Order: sequence, then structure tokens, then C-alpha cells
Amino acid sequence: MLKIENLNFSYGDLKVLWDVNVEVTEGEIVTVVGANGAGKSTILKNISRLEKPGSGSITFNGVDIAKLEAHEVVEIGVVQVPEGRKIFPQMTVTENLRMGSYTRKARQNRDANMDRVFTMLPRLKEREKQLGGTMSGGEQQMLAIARGLMADPKLLLLDEPSLGLSPLLVKSVFAIISEISRQGVTILLVEQNVFQSLKIANRGYVLETGRVVLKDNGAALLSNDHIKKAYLGI
Ligand SMILES: Nc1ncnc2c1ncn2[C@@H]1O[C@H](COP(=O)(O)OP(=O)(O)O)[C@@H](O)[C@H]1O
Ligand SMILES: [Mg+2]
Repeated sequence: MLKIENLNFSYGDLKVLWDVNVEVTEGEIVTVVGANGAGKSTILKNISRLEKPGSGSITFNGVDIAKLEAHEVVEIGVVQVPEGRKIFPQMTVTENLRMGSYTRKARQNRDANMDRVFTMLPRLKEREKQLGGTMSGGEQQMLAIARGLMADPKLLLLDEPSLGLSPLLVKSVFAIISEISRQGVTILLVEQNVFQSLKIANRGYVLETGRVVLKDNGAALLSNDHIKKAYLGI
């Protein structure tokens, strides 16, 4: 579904991605794990065209993403939930969700998608009139994910959804990601929470200072010696 081949990317003179190869097959949860500054968000921004892509190629179902504008990437079904939630604090939950369905196709499915996210996340339904900015960090993260679902994604890009959340909320965020996957949305998840991400992922890539140093299925990476020492403190 998604194929990133030999992606190199620089911010001005600072090179941050080196020959990155990542693939996502339809139906999978794939994770890219790595420390702060490894280049995870930069990979997602290249996919969603929030940055002008570097050299190499990124295709989605055979379509060359470099030829598209950011809004066209959303229209073909690739939707990013940004790091740090970025919800609209002065808008209600419902208004935030409506903002997610701005493509023509998603607008047509707006009511059905709203029902779907409220069924999956009843807590948001209870708070539909609350202002986004007054919700807790965990609720804002749920709202950010739900807003992404309102755009009718085929592939959902999640940028550190567990960042800054308590252990209990981290668990529920990962449970929701698994549920979204079961409902048929393919997921590319970038995270610093290596343990939880590899636990739910079919496959994972380990990114260190802009280079993929390991890739395997989730379970294999969890028992890999380097991962245990460098990321899991075992
Ligand atoms: N807009 C930018 N301009 C210049 N450097 C940036 C910019 N965004 C990120 N960087 C740098 O690129 C590197 C990778 O950043 P990022 O992709 O955000 O990493 P991660 O998401 O893994 O924490 C870091 O060294 C970061 O400081
Ligand atoms: Mg990041």
C-alpha cells in the first residue's frame, strides 16, 4: 500500500534521513520506533507532504506522492494525526470532528463517520459540546485520532499518540489503535514507546539518527537483544 524507497531528507544543511526504506501492506499496523530526534516525524511529514519530499520515492497504491499537494494526499486516503494533538482549543468536540471531514468524499460520509467515532469513543460523545482546549491530555489525543478518522483514511499516520500520557491512558490509546485496525484502517505508527508499539504492531522498523537499523515483525523485535538493551532497559 505504502512504499518508501531510499528516502533522503535534509532541513537546509542538516541531513536527517538516510536511505530510509519502509513498506506498509494493507491491513497492517506498522511502527517506526526511535528516540527523540531520530527523524520519525520527518518521515511522516514527507508522506503527508507537509515537507517537500527529499530524494527517493514514496508511493501510495502506486501513486507518486511527490506529485501531490498535502490536501490531495488526504483525498487519496492518507491522513496524519500530528504530534502534540493540535486540536482546535476554542472549538467544541463536534466542531473539531467536523473539521476532520473537509474533503468532498468525507463530507458526504460525515454523519456516518461521526456515529462511528462516537460509538468507538463514547467519552467523546458525552463531551460533544465541551471545548477541545478544556479536555484532558488523554481526551485531546482521542479527539485528535477521532478527527483523523473523520477524513475517511485508508492509511492513518499516527505521530507519537502516547506522548505525555499517564501509563493507564497510554494503554487505552494503544487499545484504540488496535480497534481502529480491526475496523479495517491500515496504520503507520511512529513512537518512542517502543514496548507498547511493538506489542500491537505486525512489523516494526527501528530508526536511529535517520537510519533504519533493524526491521522485523513486532514479536521478534521485542526479543531482540539490541532493542532490549537500548530501548527496554532489560
Ligand atoms: N523544521 C525543522 N527545521 C530544522 N530542523 C528540524 C526541523 N524539524 C526537525 N528538525 C530536526 O530534524 C531531526 C529529526 O527530527 P524529527 O523528525 O522531529 O524527529 P523525531 O520525530 O524522531 O523526534 C532533529 O534533529 C530535529 O531537530
Ligand atoms: Mg516527532
